[in-house]
Formats: sequence, structure tokens, C-alpha cells
Amino acid sequence: MCGIVGYIGDGNVYDVLVKGLHRLEYRGYDSAGIALVAPDGRLNLYKAKGKVSNLEDYCRDKDLRAKAGIAHTRWATHGEPSDSNAHPHFSQDGRIALVHNGTIENYKLLKDALKQHGCTFHSETDTEVLVQLIEYIKINNDCSLLDAVREALKQVVGAYAIAVIERDHPDTIIAARKSSPLVIGIGDKETFLASDATPIVEYTKNVVYLKDGEVAVIKRDEPLKLVDLENKDCDIDIRTLEMSISQLEKGGYPHFMLKEIFEQPNTLRDCIRGRVVDDGKRILINGILDNKEKFLNAKRIVIVACGTSWHAGLLGKYLLQDMTRIPVEVEYASEFRYSNPVLDDRDIVIAISQSGETADTLAAVEIARKQGAFVYGVSNVVGSSIPRETDSGTYIHVGPEIGVASTKAFTGQVMVLTMLAAAIGQLRGTLAPEQVAELGKYIIRIPDLVTKVLGLAPQIEHLSLIYTYARNFLYLGRGYSYPVALEGALKLKEISYIHAEGYPAAEMKHGPIAIIDAEMPSVIIAPNDHLYEKIVNNVQQVKSREGSIIAIVTEGDKEIRELADHVLEVPAVPECLTPIITSIPLQLLSYYIAINKRKNVDMPRNLAKSVTVE
Ligand code: G6P
Repeated sequence: MCGIVGYIGDGNVYDVLVKGLHRLEYRGYDSAGIALVAPDGRLNLYKAKGKVSNLEDYCRDKDLRAKAGIAHTRWATHGEPSDSNAHPHFSQDGRIALVHNGTIENYKLLKDALKQHGCTFHSETDTEVLVQLIEYIKINNDCSLLDAVREALKQVVGAYAIAVIERDHPDTIIAARKSSPLVIGIGDKETFLASDATPIVEYTKNVVYLKDGEVAVIKRDEPLKLVDLENKDCDIDIRTLEMSISQLEKGGYPHFMLKEIFEQPNTLRDCIRGRVVDDGKRILINGILDNKEKFLNAKRIVIVACGTSWHAGLLGKYLLQDMTRIPVEVEYASEFRYSNPVLDDRDIVIAISQSGETADTLAAVEIARKQGAFVYGVSNVVGSSIPRETDSGTYIHVGPEIGVASTKAFTGQVMVLTMLAAAIGQLRGTLAPEQVAELGKYIIRIPDLVTKVLGLAPQIEHLSLIYTYARNFLYLGRGYSYPVALEGALKLKEISYIHAEGYPAAEMKHGPIAIIDAEMPSVIIAPNDHLYEKIVNNVQQVKSREGSIIAIVTEGDKEIRELADHVLEVPAVPECLTPIITSIPLQLLSYYIAINKRKNVDMPRNLAKSVTVE
């Protein structure tokens, strides 16, 4: 949800900022803007509605010389996408510029008060209030920008990552965070700041993850300084980035999404590495080994997540119940947080989040911790908020996911949940050593089997041409294939804008069957598992209503092949591993359909990858 970048140094400020915005575009692309402090002391502001490339076009004939600057790419919350609502926002006198990611909840109150003092507003955003408030405090108290920012933030209710720059002090940027991410990169005589590390990694690997309530004072020729809102010094913890620049490029693929789909054999290998040992006989998850008592005494597991991560969570329920016999509930984090949850210290809450920053999931984590539950994170982005706020956790280690539609993170999450379930089952004795060994043997083979599934791409590309103009799709599955159906439908909706519904196959006869006709394709996920015969019946029910059927089946399948219009064969694996194998053809199907429709698969309309607002 909105990305911010800032830079002070001798490099080309405009280039650093715009490149950074491109890297953060997955966070929103409704508008982009940049504020540059020129060597002649002017503060130049350029904004454009739409993607960062529009801003670049707009800037072609502008004065881009700068000593420092801040920039923003927006996902609109308050006020429509427009030039006037684009950040940066300016103070009344045009001397201070500010970019913001987050939501100022009490902005109306602050706005009314400022209006009474003669402030005029030029946008409908909550953000503009903040810059006007900073200016008001600065003028009335005759204080520094740092002091004005600190005082203003004390009055703010809500979430923010901000960067502020002042015309009269071109060698300083003030930045601060509360609940929205902010990373500072420390280079050689240059300093960067950004919503995540992707704009920074090509310049320096030394980063500081700002904590809630910290304010950073970034000066051209001085070391970084961190203070709290009371101006007390805070410790600076410099970390080394593990990310590499090649992970942020398309690597010859036309889209990040396709690259990320094809990366899955490697990302799954990274995810498994060091966790399945002794040729698969043992599963080692440090977060579990370090907290054995918690997992031995657990009476319930509650999984909280949003979007695709919630689908992984639903699979987590099947996996954990099967292997550990602990009852599991799965909740949308956005509902859980307002459901007056009842938890205690024998509950384990698992928060799943690719970005580690989703506001609702983070709020769910806070509630769970307050109630004494043991909170375990499953995240991808190292150093993000959820891993920091949880008691323990496991990274999925699939590398940066740039495509807005999640693919490799989903399979990484499912793989981690499979290993977690097996490790807990191993610990509690609900899985026998032979069962662990059998599963471990297959987990090790999964990356190669995924390579084989990816070999279906040409067949799926061809198939996609037949269905590109379908207006509705039904995705059906049972057991482990039901969350896969939900995820398949979500992928199609997200990037092709075709209406698609995922449903438990047996429930279809209680409603959705009414809409099946020759115009309505059904994608049926039917690997050879213990519900196979049941789903054959469901396939027949669709067929007898003239619906066309695309079926994902296990190699060698005979029965469904007879009934389906198209079959995609995937290798045989134990039932609990089928979701990783069967979800990949669905990722490819949605990708190719969206491409046929000439949609922007990496940046689908209205969506953002990291949802840091409620
Ligand atoms: C957004 C993204 C989804 C993602 C969801 C949860 O809606 O577009 O791809 O699944 O947020 O994000 P998280 O980072 O918490 O997994």
C-alpha cells in the first residue's frame, strides 16, 4: 500500500528515486510523485496520475538536478487517483514536502482544526494534514523540522511511514514509522530510505529496519541518528541484506509473474533446505525445536491471514489436523481482529503473510499476543513487521515476490506448513517415524516434480485460447483440493478480471449447479486421493448440465479423462503434497488467459501487493 523512497548523496537523485519507485510499484500504481531539492535551493515537485512511467514522461523536460529527494507511488485510500491527491504533499508556504504510507485515522479532526487556523488544503488525502500540521507546529514554536515532526506525530492516530524534506535544509531528510514499514540503507557517503529493501539493495547491503515510534535524522555528512518521539536516542542495529539484485529482475521472462511461476522448483528447494534432513527421515524446524513445550501442550491452533495467504492457511488446517491431531481454526485476519476472540496461553496462533506487513494480520498478531497466545509467524520478507512481532516463526525463503498475484509465495507457504505439521507431529508422536520418512522422501522430490508440472505450460497456453472469453469460471475441489480451487479462482479473478468462484465440489449441488451451462467452464482439481471417487460423481453432475470441464488429474487417470473436455496430468504424490503440484497448472492457466486478454498481469488494476491499511 503505497511505496516511499528517499535519497541523500552524490549520486543522481532523480535516477535513484525513480528506479526505487519502479521496484515499489507492486505496492500501488494509482499515481507517483517526486520532490527534489535543487542545488539552487528550490524544492521542485512533480506528480502524475497512473504508473511511475507516466511520472517519467512528465519529468522529461523538467529540472531534475537535485541534492536530495523523496518520492512516492500511491495506492489510493483517501481521495481518488489524481494529480492533486498524488504525493508528495506540500506545506502552505511550499517549503516542506512529505510522502506517507499508511492512514491517519484522526485526519478529519486535525484538518478542521488547521482550517480554523487559516490552512487551505489542496487534496482530499489524509496525508496532507500531516505536512500542514508539521508546518503549523514549526512556525508557531519556531523549532527545527525534527522537533515539528516529533510533535506532529504525537497528535496523530493511525499508521505511518513518512519522509519529510525541507527547502531550507537540503542536506536533511526526516523519516519516521509506526505500523508501516521503513528501511534505511547506509551507503558510502549516501543514505537511502524505502518501504522495503528492494530500492536499496543495488547500492548497499547495510540496512536499518526502523522500529515503531522511531524517527530517523538522515544528514548528508553525518552518521544516521535515531530518536524516539520524546527525542531520546535509540540504538542503531545495522543488518546485512541477503537479497541479490538478480532476484529483482525479470531474468529474460516477459513478466515477473511468469518468472516467479517458473522459479518454483528453486524457491521450493530453498524453502526445504536444511529442514528435511537424513534423506528425509527427520524434519527440523528451529521455531518448533526451540519451543517444544508450547507445541507439546497446545490445545488449539488458530491460523490468521489474508488473501492468498489465507488459502495457504486453509491448507494448513488440513495438514496440521491430519498430522498433529490438534484442532485448527482458520480466520481471515480482518475478521478475527474484530471478532472478540477468546484465546489463552495454550493456544498457538499462526500468522501467515508473504510481506509480513499486512495491517490486518499484524493487528491479529497483537491481539493474540495480548491474550497470552503463543504467536508463530510464517513470512517471506526478512526483517518485516510480522516476524518481528511474533514469538517465533519460519521464513519461507522464496526470495522477493514482485508480481502482485502471489504464486511462489503460496507454494512456499504450503511447503512450510507441511513441514511444520510434520515437525509437530514428529514431536507429539502423532506421526510415526516411518510416516515422517515417507513424507520427507517425497518433500525432497517436490522441486523436480514441480519442474515436470511446469512442462505443461505449452499445453496450458493452448488451452487458454479456448477459454479466454469465458465470462465465468467455477473451480471445484474436495479435501486438500478445495483450498486449491479457491486459490485458482482468485488467481484468475486478480489478473484477468474474469469472474471465478472456488467451491467445495460437493457443495456445488447446493447452489452453484444452477448456473452451470454450456457457457460456463468448470476447473476441477481431482488428483487420485481418498476423495477421488466422490469427485468423479461431481464431475458427472457438471457434465450432465453440459458444462465444459478442465480437470487436473494424476498421471494415468482413466475415469475423469472419459468425462472431461481437457485433462492436465500431474505426477502422483502423497495426498498432503498434492496442493503444491495441482496449484501450478492453475497459476499458468490464469497467466495465459490474462495475457490473451492483454492485461497487465504484474500490476492488475486496483490491487496492491502489500496491504498496509485496513
Ligand atoms: C494482497 C495481495 C495478495 C496477498 C494478500 C495478503 O491482497 O495482493 O497477493 O495474498 O495481500 O498479503 P500477505 O503479504 O499478508 O501475504
